Formats: sequence, structure tokens, C-alpha cells
Amino acid sequence: MPERPVYVGLLGLGTIGTGVVRLLQAHGPRIDERLGFPLRLKRIADIELERDRGVPLDSYALTQDWHEVVDDPEVELVIELIGGDGVARSAVLAALKAGKSVVTANKALLAHHGPEIYACAETYGSDIAFEASVGGTIPVLRALREGLCADRIDALHGIVNGTCNFILSEMEERGETYAACLKRAQDLGFAEADPSFDVNGMDSTHKLCILLGLAFGLHVLPEAIPTDGIECVTPLDIEYAERVGFRIKLMAIAKERDGGVEAWVSPTMIPRDSVLGRVGGAMNAIEVRGSMSGPTLYYGAGAGSLPTASAIVADLMELARAGRCGVKRRVPPLGTPVLREIPLRRKEDLEGEYYLRFSALDRPGVLSHIAGALGEHGISIASLLQLERHASEAVPVVMMTHPAKDAALRAALAEISHMGDVLAPTQVIPVEREI
Ligand code: HSE
Repeated sequence: MPERPVYVGLLGLGTIGTGVVRLLQAHGPRIDERLGFPLRLKRIADIELERDRGVPLDSYALTQDWHEVVDDPEVELVIELIGGDGVARSAVLAALKAGKSVVTANKALLAHHGPEIYACAETYGSDIAFEASVGGTIPVLRALREGLCADRIDALHGIVNGTCNFILSEMEERGETYAACLKRAQDLGFAEADPSFDVNGMDSTHKLCILLGLAFGLHVLPEAIPTDGIECVTPLDIEYAERVGFRIKLMAIAKERDGGVEAWVSPTMIPRDSVLGRVGGAMNAIEVRGSMSGPTLYYGAGAGSLPTASAIVADLMELARAGRCGVKRRVPPLGTPVLREIPLRRKEDLEGEYYLRFSALDRPGVLSHIAGALGEHGISIASLLQLERHASEAVPVVMMTHPAKDAALRAALAEISHMGDVLAPTQVIPVEREI
């Protein structure tokens, strides 16, 4: 007798949802063969059903009401691709409460409501999988949850936003402005129509929240993570970075040391010849440093319909197998049943090296004013990169510092901003050498 299928419901038929349908149609027989039983997409919900997605949809029951998918007693697994944390949260909780396991790519939902969702799955005997929420197709969450579970993770450095990596790579290659490269990213379909969360760093912060859970057993809300986007990076900064052997990347960084964890998202100068320094275009890469395992690297497409769909369907297959074997939640979503109580270091206590670009009037004494204010706050200058005459009234004065406390730097910059010979806000970019 042929095996009974596992039925699936899909919420959200946007770019990624359509990719899931396409992948299931292309690889259906291969997937069934690997599972040893049929996996069948049965119902799809989306508010917009008229639009042609370029894939045949006639074999599915279509609806505009997500309840019809979640309430179908035959549907065992639900894929949530609605996005955001409004309807998506209600739908995920409803599915989990009905004992259905859920696959989601929704990083904002997990960053804000992860503990509520994981607890709900445990209470109702369901499960949740979210590999596609970080790094698209890259199986980095699986690696942290299982492959590296015997080790202690000391540090994690990630390029987890393809849009920003594309824009910064283009700015360097073409010497063009941020605005011009953002427009090209949108024209080529890399950036979303509203790319705010990509370029302001929040998308990376949501992903870092999930990585912090898996790597350090910590729940941190996005608001607690210092976040800077790439909007302020100029071609001048990129040029100076190149001169001193660095490249600017939007980095999501987390480290555990001295009894605390520090985590932040910021455009960061990293060595050009490091592995992460060579990750170009829209690609993502995450380097994980374990105390025993040393560095391991995860690289691949962090976005895109089919790469993301491949991670979603892999999760679906895992949950389908688990349901068949009756061993749901073999590994807890964050790899541990109990989260740790370890403090997240406050932004003002973070310490690191910085690149500083001042816009100053080209007149005697300006350098000593700036250096004096930095010195008074205990900030030592490692090198002075630029004191060339420029055509404009303001000249860039560029410095690299030795390690300095964030609080001391902010105090010095506040003082400097009131100086009559400093014309514009100072550009501050952290420097990360240990990559
Ligand atoms: N918008 C994201 C990026 C992809 O540009 O990397 C989805 O997480």
C-alpha cells in the first residue's frame, strides 16, 4: 500500500513562497524518494490571488484566509512566509496550538517573539524550524544547533545582509555614491522596494538575535543591540579603508568574553585579505569561532527566491520525518532547553579601535584641537591618514585610534562637535582586526 502523504499548508505567496512552490514542483519526486513517503502541498493562503506568479497553482486549494489553511485537519505542517510580526505571529501561534509544526523565514518575528513561540511549540507538542531566517540557503543554524553543539562559541562574525554587501561592493568597485548603488541594487532586484530595514542594519540585527540564541544560548531583543546602517558610508571612507588595507562591510558581530556577551551591527573596517573581507556582491558569510573547533565558515546566497526556498523545504523535510518517527523536538529550537542568564554588555562599555573622519577647516591648530580633545578622554591615536588640501572649504582629517571605550569616544566627539573649526558630524567606523 502506498505511504500516506504528509500535507503542507503555505501562508504567503510572495517571492519566497513562489520559490517554495517552484522547488516542490521541480524536485517533488526526488524529495519523496529521499523521505520515503510523499510530501504534498495542499493549501495556499495569500491576500492577492489574481496575480500570475509564473507557476501552475491549479492543484492547490487557494484562499485569502489563513485560518482555512491552519484549520484543515489534514494539514500537518505550515509554512509561514507572511512576514512581519502581526498576522504572522497570530498564524504561527494558532498553527502550533493546533499541534502543527511550522517552518518560517521570519527573522523579525523570531527576534521579537522567539521565546513565546518556542514555549508555545513545547506546550502543544509541535515544533518550529527557521533555517531560512538567517543566511538564506546557508545551513548555519543547523551547524550551530548540532554540528558545533559540543563546543563553546567564542565569537561570531557575519555578513548577513546581501543588499548591503552588494551596495558596499559596488561603491568600492565603481567609486559611486551610496544612493547610486542602492538604486542599482533595486533595479537588479537585490533590494526590496522599501529597503529601510536592510540599509539601516535592522535586518542584520534581527538575524544576529537568532544567532545569539543558537551560539550563546541568549535571548536578546533587537532594541538591545547597538545598530548602525550603511547610509552614512561615503566613497571617501571606502577609499581611506583601501589605503590602509581594510574594506568596509556591514558586520553582525557577537563575542563572549570576561563573563559577558557583546553584540553589535555596524559598517566595520575588516582586513581586505581576510576571508570575510573577500566576500563580495550579494553573498552572505558567517564565521564562527569555537574554543575547540577553531574557525568555521558558512558562505552562500543569503537571499533570493530559490536559495531561500531550498532552506525552507529542507526544514519541511526534517519536520515531516520527525512527525513520521514520532520524535518531534529532538533538538530544542535554540539547541538548549534553558537559556543562559549572561549579561549583554552595554554599548558604552564596548571597547575597540575606530576610524574617525573629521571635516575640519584647513587652518593652523585644528589638528591639535582635535587630538587634544581625544587625548583628554584617554583616546590614543594610532595613525593619521590624511591631511591633504581639498578644493572645498572643509578638509577631511582621518585617524585610526588604538583601542578605546565607546563612552570615552562619544564624550570626546561631543566636545569636538562644538569646535568652531570642525564643520560636520564626525564619521565613526569600528575597526575589527581579529577576523
Ligand atoms: N533582504 C535580505 C538581504 C534578504 O538583503 O540580505 C532576506 O533576509
